[in-house]
Parts: sequence; C-alpha cells; structure tokens
Amino acid sequence: MFRAGWAMLRAMKKLRGTEAGETEPPGGDRRVLASCSVVIFGASGDLTARKLIPALYHLFKDNLMPPAFRIVGFARREKTDESWRTELRAALDQFSRTKPVEEAVWTKFAATLFYCQGDLAEAAAYQKLEGILTSFGSGPLRENLLFYLAVSPSQFGLVAEQIHRAGLLNKDGLPWQRMVVEKPFGHDLASAQALNRELTRFVHESQVFRIDHYLGKETVQNILMFRFSNSIFERLWNRDSVDHVQITVSEKLGVGERGGYYEEAGALRDMVQNHLLQVLSLIAMEPPVSLEAESVRDEKVKLLKSIRPLTPEMVARQVVRGQYFAGNVGGQPRPGYRQETKVSPESSVETFAALQLFIDNWRWSGVPFYLRTGKNLPQSASEVRIQFRPTPNVLFAAQCGQKIDANALTLRLQPNEGIYLRFNGKVPGVGLGIRPVRMRFSYHAEFGAYTPEAYERLLLEALAGDATLFIRRDEVEIAWRIVDSIRQAWGDQPLTNREFYAAGTWGPVAADDLLAHSGHVWHEPQSIS
Ligand code: BG6
Repeated sequence: MFRAGWAMLRAMKKLRGTEAGETEPPGGDRRVLASCSVVIFGASGDLTARKLIPALYHLFKDNLMPPAFRIVGFARREKTDESWRTELRAALDQFSRTKPVEEAVWTKFAATLFYCQGDLAEAAAYQKLEGILTSFGSGPLRENLLFYLAVSPSQFGLVAEQIHRAGLLNKDGLPWQRMVVEKPFGHDLASAQALNRELTRFVHESQVFRIDHYLGKETVQNILMFRFSNSIFERLWNRDSVDHVQITVSEKLGVGERGGYYEEAGALRDMVQNHLLQVLSLIAMEPPVSLEAESVRDEKVKLLKSIRPLTPEMVARQVVRGQYFAGNVGGQPRPGYRQETKVSPESSVETFAALQLFIDNWRWSGVPFYLRTGKNLPQSASEVRIQFRPTPNVLFAAQCGQKIDANALTLRLQPNEGIYLRFNGKVPGVGLGIRPVRMRFSYHAEFGAYTPEAYERLLLEALAGDATLFIRRDEVEIAWRIVDSIRQAWGDQPLTNREFYAAGTWGPVAADDLLAHSGHVWHEPQSIS
C-alpha cells in the first residue's frame, strides 16, 4: 500500500552522489505528489506558527509541494483568512529557517491559506469546513485530504468522529484521506490502546500517521544508511565487538513555561517513550527485508519486543530518576523544578532519567544499552556512542604501562551533526606513548548548511503517503509497555535526596553509579565541528 521508503532511497542516492563528488541540491529526487488540501486543527497554537507553517512554506519554496494545494486552519478564535495570513507572516519572519522571507514566494503561498473558525465539539463547524473544502472545486483539492491534529490527545477521537460525520473522512480513504497526530499519543498503555481503538472506528491504521519528530531529523534517518550501507561497521554491530552503547539526549533548557504539561509527563513519557526508544530501535534493529514502510516498522517493533521486561527489582537497579534543583547552566542562574510555574512545590516528577536496558536477542545478548535524558543539563546534545570491546592488554602493557582506551564510534545527532571514530595511535617521538585520536565527519563541512526542519520531511512523507517515518500502532503500544513498567515500579514514592541534581550538572550521582556497577562511565557529548 505504501510507496517505497523514499526518504531512505533518497539518502542512498545522496551517498552515491557524494562519492562522485557531487552535492545534491535541496529538494533533489522530487516525487510528484497529488494535489490536495491540508487541514490543520489547532491552527492558533504554537506548533502551527513555529513549525507547521514554516515547514509548508519551505516545501513550497523548494518546489516540493503538490502542483495545487490549499491549507485550511481550523481553530476557535475569531479570525478572517486575511488576519490569519497576517499573523502567520509575522510568525514566519520570526521562525523561518531562512531569512528574510521571500516576498514573491510568500505572496503565492499566502493565497493558499484559509481559516475556518469553529469549536472542535460542534458539528456545524465541520459543516463549515466541508463548505470551504467544496469551494475549492470537486477535484483533488476536495477529495485528497490531509488532516493534521495539532490538538490535545484527549480531542483526537472527537475530531476524527466529527470529520467522519461531516463526510470528510472514511475508512476506505478514497481517493485519499490521512490523519497526522502529534505526540503525546496517550499517557500510558491503556490510554494509548483506547485512543487507537477510538481512531480506528473512523480510519484504517494505514491512514494514521503518528508523529515522532526525531524521525524527521536527517541524522536519525542516517542511522539506517550508516548501518546498512557500510560493511566495515555492520560486521562489528553485535555482542562480539560491542561492549556497550550509550544514547544521550541532553537539554540545557529547563521546563520553562511548560510546567503544567510536564507535571503530567515527566522525562520518561516526554522523551524516553518516544525519542530515545526510537533512536534505540534504529541503532539495534535487524536489517529490514526491504525499505517498505511495513518492513522497516516490523523490525523496529521486533527490537522493542526483545527488550528484557523490567520487574520492580530490576527498575530499582537499572533505572535512575532525578529532578533538578536551583543551579547554574552556562553561567545563567536557574530555578529548581519545584519553583517553576504551574509546578507543585512538592512535585516528584522526574526531569532526568537514565536506564540500563538489555536486548534479549541473538545479536545483542548481554550488551548493556544505557539511555539518559534530562533538562537543565550542562549541554544540549543528542548522540549515540558505540563503545567497542577493548583489545587484550598484553602487547603494550609492559612497555607503556598504560591501559589502552577502547575504540568508540559516536553518531552525533545534534547539534554539530556528524560521526566520529576514536582509535589509538602512537604519539610521535622516541617513546612508546599511545593515545586516542579521532577521525571526524561533519555534515556541515561535507554537505553544506542544508538542514531542513524535521517537520518539513515529515509533512512531505505524509503528503506522499509514506509511513516509514511514522509510528505504527503496535510500536507506540510496546513503547508504552516499557515505560509503564518503570512508572508502576516507582508508584507514588516521593523522590529521595539521592535523586536530586543541581541544574547545570549531569544528573544525580546515582546515574554515574548505574554505569560504575558494570565498570562503565558516561561519556560527555563532544563537539565535532
Ligand atoms: C519534545 C519534548 O518532544 O522534544 C520536549 O516534548 C523536548 O520536552 C523536545 O524539549 C526536544 O526536541 P529537540 O528536537 O529539540 O531535540
């Protein structure tokens, strides 16, 4: 049903182009997309202004949008088409990744924007929407519909039902109707299952595109390219050669204005359930039989299912939570989490989590995978470090009297995107000194400053109907199962003193102990630029 994994093919082609010394212009490998209308629910929200409209504008600017399209914003606030356009233009001036906004491009793009004022719960509003879509003619602009639900998850079911009742969304999805839903998809397994049941009353699973914006990032997509197009690394990608793996997604920012949301979420739900487990599954999955969406997603699900289930005793040993108290990040004073707006002064919500997971399959048996994420940490960086087994220390030990560092390969996902390989070399001179050196690949140096926003890629894939970069129903549910087992083990226990960390540090001491038990240490993300 889905087109081939285009994003991956595109990247494969990119690799070939590079070998020949070419660089690919933004928007190479164009697909012809069917004309359609995009309806954004939650059109007055932050996501629309900061991400969705800038992404659609850039797709248009790069000639990647369908030959004809309309964008309809649906929200409760009173606005006209004109006032919405004016508002979006101001937002674009602020959030566009390319500046200044090109007047001629904007003028044409703005003419495709329409506003539909209405309440999500009122059938009449959807009739109005139907009227607007019908005013675009009886062809593809009325028939091919992409619904983007940038609303709270508790409203997903309601919106799906109302669009269905208005005759705009059907299970046969012909010519095509698709629904993109934002995260969080539920807050635990039971709520995610309920949501899935609710949505699939009106749409087929193949019409649902669940977002995890990490999958829209070039460097995250490159994980599969890197693994499966380089024999020298793929051969080492197993328990015989790999000692352990570290996945870090650290953020310098605190929760800021999002205290209300964060009190319900915490680091496990906000980051681990989605972004970190997605990166883990791409790093550790088996090669898919093809690049079709279902083949890729089958392997990701298989991997998530192979993660050893966590009993409460294992959670006590293998999972660390933390919450920041007041401190300094890069010289800036930061309040403690309990002092943030809309946060309870007694909150035990975790702003940091570190996990040791084991994957019980043939390839990874016995290899620890460490995951950590947190707010108000010293650096904003996402990276994966593959730490290889050390060589037997027999040859140089006598002469050099030193322990030889193990090799490591780091995939730097953001910022300063790149890959580096750490190996040992002789220090020049008459002595026998050995020390680690690095080989670096920087995306920026190799490919220039072409860094499209994750939302551009994801919107393009949804318009093309390719679900490779979206989360399937069973995938979201299995990820919740893992997170739920941790949350249940924590129960209502308040945080202990050992579970706090000062803003600007790498989390609670217990996170270091987690690795020390196995003779490992966390590696600080390092800049590659
Ligand atoms: C979001 C989380 O999904 O991802 C945020 O809700 C987090 O809390 C953000 O800050 C991180 O995304 P990125 O792309 O900045 O790494």
